[in-house]
Amino acid sequence: RLLIIDFGSQVTQLIARRLRELNVYCEIHPYQNVTAEFIREMAPKAVILSGGPDSVTREGSPRAPQELFEMGIPILGICYGQQVMMTQLGGKVESGHGTAEFGRAYVTPKGPHIDLLRGWFLEGDEQVWMSHGDHVSQIAPGFEVYGTSPNAPYAITADLKRHFYAVQFHPEVHHTPNGKTLYENFIKIAGFTGDWTMGAYREEMIRKIREQVGDKKVICALSGGVDSSVAAILIHEAIGDQLTCVFVDHGLLRKNEAAEVVGMFREHYNLPLIHADESELFLGELEGVSDPETKRKIIGKLFIDVFQKHADTIEGAEFLAQGTLYPDVIESVSFSGGPSVTIKSHHNVGGLPEKMGLKLVEPLRELFKDEVRALGHELGLPASFIGRHPFPGPGLAIRCPGEITREKLEILREADAIYIDQIRKHGLYDEIWQAFVAILPVRTVGVMGDGRTYDYACALRAVTSVDGMTADYYPFSHEFLGETATRIINEVKGINRCTYDITSKPPGTIEWE
Ligand code: XMP
Repeated sequence: RLLIIDFGSQVTQLIARRLRELNVYCEIHPYQNVTAEFIREMAPKAVILSGGPDSVTREGSPRAPQELFEMGIPILGICYGQQVMMTQLGGKVESGHGTAEFGRAYVTPKGPHIDLLRGWFLEGDEQVWMSHGDHVSQIAPGFEVYGTSPNAPYAITADLKRHFYAVQFHPEVHHTPNGKTLYENFIKIAGFTGDWTMGAYREEMIRKIREQVGDKKVICALSGGVDSSVAAILIHEAIGDQLTCVFVDHGLLRKNEAAEVVGMFREHYNLPLIHADESELFLGELEGVSDPETKRKIIGKLFIDVFQKHADTIEGAEFLAQGTLYPDVIESVSFSGGPSVTIKSHHNVGGLPEKMGLKLVEPLRELFKDEVRALGHELGLPASFIGRHPFPGPGLAIRCPGEITREKLEILREADAIYIDQIRKHGLYDEIWQAFVAILPVRTVGVMGDGRTYDYACALRAVTSVDGMTADYYPFSHEFLGETATRIINEVKGINRCTYDITSKPPGTIEWE
C-alpha cells in the first residue's frame, strides 16, 4: 500500500484517483494524524506528500515526521510536499515576490534522464500545472535537478540513492497531460505491481464501515439512483441488518419504478427496506401549485418530514448513510489555496443529519461517478441499472410544467416509457446523458379516425453531456423521431401532439423546470 500524507491540497483526492487507475492501493491521511509510529505500523511501500495551502516558511506550518526520511521508503513530494522535503532535508524555501506561478508552465529537461521521467520529454518540453507562491531556493544535500521551468529552477529534483523525488507542479491534474506517467514510474520504482482491484476496494470499504459503525444502527435514504443504491448495498454487506433503508415514494416516479426498486432491494439484495408510499401526501400538497420553485420547496420539505417520520421508527439509529461522491465534496477545484474543501449539501437530504442528530456514513466520498459504477458492477448490480440516466429528486413534478394532476402524471408515465423503450430498441440509450418526456400544460386540436381530439401536447428531450452542467440536444434521425411520435400518439390516450426540444444548455436547462 501507499500512504498519501495530506497537507490540505484541493486535489489530493486526484492523486488517489490516479493511483487507483494504476491499480495501486493507497490511503490518504491528514498530516495531523501521521506520526512516525503510524507510518511504522502501516508500513507503506511508498509515501506521497501532497500539496497544501500553507507556507513552509511560516512557523508552525505542517511537516512530515522527521523519521519518515530515515525509513528507507521511496517518497514523492508534490508542491507543498516538495517544499516540506527540502526544508526537512536541509534545503531552503523562500516566500518569493514575483516567483509565484499559477497555471500552465513548461518544464525543460536537465541532466541525465531518470526512471521517474520515463516517457517524458519525448517531444521536447513537458506541459505541467503549477500552483505555488513559495519556491525552493536551495535544494537539499543529495538532490540533483532534472527539470526546470522559467519560474521554478527546481521543478523536478531527486535524490536517486534514497529514492526521494520532489516536483514543484501537480502531476495529478488534467492540465499536466503526462502526469499519470510520472505516477506510474514512481510506483514502479517503489516496487508496486499494480494488482489492486475494485474488489479489494470493496473489502477495504467494508472494513472501514464496520470500524466506523460498530454495533450501531444506520438508516439510508434510498432513491433508486446509482449512488444511493451502491452505498446501501455496500453498507449492507458490511453490517447486514443494522442497516435500514427508507425509500420515499412521492408519487412522482416513473412507470413501474417503485415496484422495480423495492423488488430489487428487498428480494434480490434482501435489504431491510421501508417503502414509504406517501404519494397521497405529496400530490395533495402539490395540488393547485404551478410555480416551479414552490413545487421544489414543497417536495424538499415534505421529503425531509417523511424521511424523518419513518427514520424515527427505527430505534437507536445513530448514522445516516449517504451516497455522496467526491465531486459533491469538492465544489470547485481551485488552485489558489484557502480552505481545502467546500461541502455541498446533498439535494435530497440536505440538513437532515444536523436536524436528526445523526452522524454520516459516506462510503463513496472518495470516488468519482465512473468508479461508483465500477463498484456497482463489482457488487453485482445489473449493467442496465448501473448505466441508468440521472433522475432528479423532485421527479416527474419538474417534467409537468403548470399544475400537477394525477391524470397528467399517468399520461406522462406512459409516454416516457414508450420513449425510453424506443431509445433502447435503437441502441441509443448509452449515448445519451438523459432522455425524458415533458407533458405540456396545453391542449391542442387533432384529428384521429373520424373524430376531433383535444388532448395534451408533449415534448421529448434528450441531451448529451459530461456532467450535466452543459448539454447539447441529441441529434436523432427524423425517422426515429417520426416513429416515436407516432407510437406515443397512437398508444397513449391523452396525447395528440409531440414535439422535440432542440434547446442546448445554456441557455436552456435539461429539465423543463
Ligand atoms: P438542469 O435541469 O438544472 O439539470 O439542467 C441538471 C441535472 O440535474 C438534475 N436535477 C436534479 N437532480 N435534484 C436532483 O437530484 C434536483 O432538484 C434536480 N434538479 C435537476 C437534472 O435531472 C439533470 O441531470
